[in-house]
Amino acid sequence: MQVSVYIAVSLDGFIAREDGGLDWLPGSDPNTEVDNGNNDDHGYVAFMETVDVLVMGRNSYEAVLSFGDWAYGDKPVVVLSSSLKRLPAELPATVSLRDVSPAELVAELARNGARRLYIDGGHTIRRFLRAGLITDMTIFRVPVLLGQGIPLFGALEADIPLVHLETRAYPDGMVESRYQVQSGRDEGAGSQPESGQ
Ligand SMILES: NC(=O)c1ccc[n+]([C@@H]2O[C@H](COP(=O)([O-])OP(=O)(O)OC[C@H]3O[C@@H](n4cnc5c(N)ncnc54)[C@H](OP(=O)(O)O)[C@@H]3O)[C@@H](O)[C@H]2O)c1
Repeated sequence: MQVSVYIAVSLDGFIAREDGGLDWLPGSDPNTEVDNGNNDDHGYVAFMETVDVLVMGRNSYEAVLSFGDWAYGDKPVVVLSSSLKRLPAELPATVSLRDVSPAELVAELARNGARRLYIDGGHTIRRFLRAGLITDMTIFRVPVLLGQGIPLFGALEADIPLVHLETRAYPDGMVESRYQVQSGRDEGAGSQPESGQ
């Protein structure tokens, strides 16, 4: 089982402004995109084709909903939340709501045949990382300093060693780096106790 992170982050480590703003992401302004002739999706569609289940935290889910049309078609999506009680009826039946630990979820999805999960949302990624479940990370560094915002990474009980696999620079200034997580497991359930946020 691959449990992957695939995310864009400001050079100073934020995945959104404090109010959730994503206007700093390349492509967030359609006019700028046309001006630059930059229609490169940075490999997103190809990555999504390798993903069996997208797992996202409640905050990311609410951000996606606020964009309007559901962006993931019939791709299986698990929304993690301990506060939401139900999802809107108009969402595809492939979207489900769960309140389980990362280890339980990974084990369950592996039993159901999933081979690659895409974990999204800063808080959620940190929980999966601390549980020793993330196997690989693709990080897109956006050439901007935001100064403050919602962080990607946070405190850890121990270092998580990474193996650098590849780095690629795009004409729009994005730098994509792929890492393998050395402590990440590839057979499902978590190996380390979780703690905190
Ligand atoms: N730059 C990018 O590429 C990128 C990508 C994704 C998201 N974002 C942005 O990042 C922001 C969201 O990130 P975030 O760090 O605030 O939060 P998040 O990880 O999206 O969501 C956190 C919430 O998920 C729920 N959750 C996580 N793990 C859980 C578990 N195991 N069991 C039950 N519930 C669980 C909890 O919801 P409850 O409080 O309901 O329990 C928690 O408060 C948004 O603004 C989004 O637009 C940016």
